[in-house]
Amino acid sequence: MIVKVNLPINAYEIKIERGILKKAKEELKLNRKVMIVTDDGVPPAYAQTLAAQCKDATLFVLKQGEESKNLDNFAAVEKALLENNFSRKDCVVALGGGVVGDLAGFAASCFMRGVDFYNIPTTVLSQVDSSVGGKTAVDFNGVKNIVGTFYQPKKVLIDPDVLDTLSDRQKSNGLVEAIKMAATFDAELFEVFEKTAKFEDLDIEYVIGKAISIKADVVEKDEKEAGLRKVLNFGHTLGHGIEASLQNTDKALLHGECVGLGMTVMCDEKIKERIEKILKMLNIPVTYSFDFDEAMNAVLHDKKLNGNTISTVYVSQIGTFELRDMTPEELSERMQLLLA
Ligand SMILES: NC(=O)c1ccc[n+]([C@@H]2O[C@H](COP(=O)([O-])OP(=O)(O)OC[C@H]3O[C@@H](n4cnc5c(N)ncnc54)[C@H](O)[C@@H]3O)[C@@H](O)[C@H]2O)c1
Ligand SMILES: [Zn+2]
Repeated sequence: MIVKVNLPINAYEIKIERGILKKAKEELKLNRKVMIVTDDGVPPAYAQTLAAQCKDATLFVLKQGEESKNLDNFAAVEKALLENNFSRKDCVVALGGGVVGDLAGFAASCFMRGVDFYNIPTTVLSQVDSSVGGKTAVDFNGVKNIVGTFYQPKKVLIDPDVLDTLSDRQKSNGLVEAIKMAATFDAELFEVFEKTAKFEDLDIEYVIGKAISIKADVVEKDEKEAGLRKVLNFGHTLGHGIEASLQNTDKALLHGECVGLGMTVMCDEKIKERIEKILKMLNIPVTYSFDFDEAMNAVLHDKKLNGNTISTVYVSQIGTFELRDMTPEELSERMQLLLA
């Protein structure tokens, strides 16, 4: 399946196909210098498969984890590009999850003011969400994604086969972002998840195709997040707060797990029940124990207050959304519901 992102200047294709990693050479221009950025949690066989198809590949392997998404590693990639004599005609390929994609994309966008960037996402989260849209970034000074660029890839290749090696928890984590898109845009897809959200029972190619089409559509309409793109933040306002409050603790949750929690209190009661039912199938908690004040602080500091309110995405009918301005008090009441 091919999904097109029809941007006025930087249009590109996303190709979703089992086994496509083995045929990357037919899809991407690899007869030049290619910097493959990956991490040590991605099975090395994937990078080998890709490197074997390049004329001149250089491998850059990050340590896995969000901590790697930093300026030091950004500089290290730039240095590797320089030392290996990359020119403006060469390219960077991300082969990994969102961490690799965000960092490699940022590095590609800056080297010589921009070299071709391809993304081959290998986690569910990156296959349904982060590989499309052109947001690149690193974390800086304790703030997530604060230094980065908008830089669209030249092409995205999605190979569902590489998900075989991903843990169940990571699979569920990524599916939450697809459920988010279904809840706000696609009632039919949401009903698919209601029947079964178990990864092994899903037609994952169908799910990825649907989710990525929704994302592509939103990005086409609002490339640089002036308005509509905010809808992708459904569940994220309170979710981010919880995520931040648990950071570096032994109870830390993954991003998608926090978004799942956040979604359940930004919708009508009937929908809350429906979302919770899906989360339970994914073994994602629907309440959790976290430091309430710390989580609320993160929510209120993170977001720009418009006057005294925060703009949030709210769902009162599956497949649609509205933007609602909520006061800190109202957000706090909703956050309370998530405490175990
Ligand atoms: N740019 C965007 O629009 C956007 C959107 C959402 C999230 N993000 C970013 O994405 C990041 C999260 O991405 P993620 O959830 O993919 O996490 P991740 O990149 O940390 O990957 C999760 C783990 O899975 C491992 N892994 C990757 N592929 C694997 C495979 N095929 N088999 C086995 N293990 C594999 C990785 O080594 C890592 O340990 C965050 O930094 C977030 O800010 C960006
Ligand atoms: Zn998210």
